[in-house]
Amino acid sequence: MENPSRTIPQLPTQPWPFVLHFLRSFKWLIGLMASMEIAQKACQILIPYSFKEILDGAVAFDGPKDQLFDYLNGPLSFFAWMCLGILVFSRASGALLVYFGPRLRKMTREKIYHYLQYQSHRYFISNFSGSLANRINEVSMGVNHGLWTVMFDFLPVAVSFCVTLFLLYSANSGLALFLAFWVFVYVSISFLLATRCQKYSRTFAAERSRTTGHIVDAVTNVMNTKLFARLPFERHRLNKQLDVEVEKATETMWFFEKMRWFQFIAGLILQLGTIVYALVLFRDGAISVGSFAMVATLSLVIIDDSRGLSRRFLEFFEYMGNISDGVKILVKPHEIQDMENAKDLVAKDGALEFKDVCFSYAEGKSVFENLNVKIKPGEKVGLVGFSGSGKTTFVNLILRLFDIQEGQISIDDQNIQTHTQDSLRSSISMIPQDPVLFHRTLLENIRYGNPSATDEQVKEAARMAHAHDFILETEDGYQSLVGERGVKLSGGQRQRVAISRAILKDAPLLVMDEATSSLDSITEKAIQNTLDTIMKDKTVIVVAHRLSTISHLDRILVFNEGRIIEDGSHETLLKENGHYARLWSMQAGGFLPSRDTESTETQTPSNPRPTL
Ligand SMILES: Nc1ncnc2c1ncn2[C@@H]1O[C@H](COP(=O)(O)OP(=O)(O)OP(=O)(O)O)[C@@H](O)[C@H]1O
Ligand SMILES: [Mg+2]
Repeated sequence: MENPSRTIPQLPTQPWPFVLHFLRSFKWLIGLMASMEIAQKACQILIPYSFKEILDGAVAFDGPKDQLFDYLNGPLSFFAWMCLGILVFSRASGALLVYFGPRLRKMTREKIYHYLQYQSHRYFISNFSGSLANRINEVSMGVNHGLWTVMFDFLPVAVSFCVTLFLLYSANSGLALFLAFWVFVYVSISFLLATRCQKYSRTFAAERSRTTGHIVDAVTNVMNTKLFARLPFERHRLNKQLDVEVEKATETMWFFEKMRWFQFIAGLILQLGTIVYALVLFRDGAISVGSFAMVATLSLVIIDDSRGLSRRFLEFFEYMGNISDGVKILVKPHEIQDMENAKDLVAKDGALEFKDVCFSYAEGKSVFENLNVKIKPGEKVGLVGFSGSGKTTFVNLILRLFDIQEGQISIDDQNIQTHTQDSLRSSISMIPQDPVLFHRTLLENIRYGNPSATDEQVKEAARMAHAHDFILETEDGYQSLVGERGVKLSGGQRQRVAISRAILKDAPLLVMDEATSSLDSITEKAIQNTLDTIMKDKTVIVVAHRLSTISHLDRILVFNEGRIIEDGSHETLLKENGHYARLWSMQAGGFLPSRDTESTETQTPSNPRPTL
């Protein structure tokens, strides 16, 4: 099995290096595209210059009329070449964009998803999956759009300013100075306005996502809304949030309006200033009529180019902000990693050992303290105990979904922490407490246990798990889609699909965490026979509240507040007359009580208090 630590992409955790990491792979294409954009903009801005040459030539021409075009051949060709340049360079840049834009986006998503896959179980239970998917989207859009803003907005404006300055300088240095001053003031104020606007647009964005959150929460809980007849209440609640959003939107849009006022006034000053100034220069004979026309046209081009610069800055900040937020969440260091030279774990016999294991989910609240337990190869072990006593945690630790703080867990004398996670999990078939299915067909869901299984093998596994019949009754049989997380199936049906999947996986260790808890007793009994067959030659751990599910197993471990308080076969434990015996006598083939009744219990198992 391939050691994934060698293939996991190393992603920078700071936004700028993160963006550059992705752009570096396309540096030649980006360079080519930037050259096209510069060339295109230069051609565009040289058109007023060609007008000047044509106009000055036409004014100076005093030969026969039919020779005017010959006389103007140079400036006219220049004009034609510039027009052609705009066309060729802009479309070449467009073609590069078509090729490279989607590939850049694919690459960012692919790498982020690849990195995300190796985040820990704790990471995924602490972050909403919808929000993670959204962040991947926003980050990849941010990388693309950020680049486009630089390439198609900032770069052309910079080229435009530079070429215009050069042209104006060639006509008159005073005009060039005037423009340089204007550009400096305009860009600085635009930047400042964008910085100030950030706080408005951020609160507006935060309110927008809060509204989305409100709607998602309300829609997810629509059943509750209906059951409690609280439809108007929910509308009112959403309305209150929408009002806040309107308020923030108005503030932000007012700020945009202010930015537009600034742009219009600055544009007007530039236009009037250059025209009056150029007119004065023309009157004094300092510039030609052609130069006058060029100055007037250039000022229009500059105003056009620089319009919305504040908005562009703001958008750019937003993209970088999204990337920075996304990177903080998505590119967190992996909590559980394979060691540098981790070998594959080989589970031949399936012996399992917990040695002085200490574990807590959060500091100060430990679940296990120095837990010791040895499970022999092929042993079938049942785990019982009150809710919250640590059974699922025990199972999760075997699968290394969390790393222990002290001690060692080993399978066939191989420390699970020093071997690859993939090889460990391939050695264990797990049927979780609440199985979740992919929104894919039933066939695909079952085959997940063994991708090379034939359709017939999939059906056989389903038959063994008593899932075949209900699958045939669904609309499209094995091709039926199961809905998000498998919601279109009942809890018991989902469990049977999960069992079929585990049967196909056929790993040497089998772990079942309340795997049959949602089944009715008759179906459970029927499946039990199948499970007994597949348990053969495997080490098995079965967590169950229903004691009849585990009473026939080789050994039973009774958990209480993270400790194993009793350990032995059903008969031995009954003889011991302890906790297990009390629970056994209390349940009439039913479940454990939902809380520890030890303190209220009389010590005589024959006379338990009826707490069920
Ligand atoms: N992801 C988690 N983060 C923090 N604490 C957790 C987490 N999962 C479980 N716990 C806590 O760890 C303790 C043991 O929980 P665990 O799920 O192992 O119990 P359990 O025996 O499987 O219970 P049940 O029978 O209800 O499934 C509980 O106090 C629980 O609140
Ligand atoms: Mg549990």
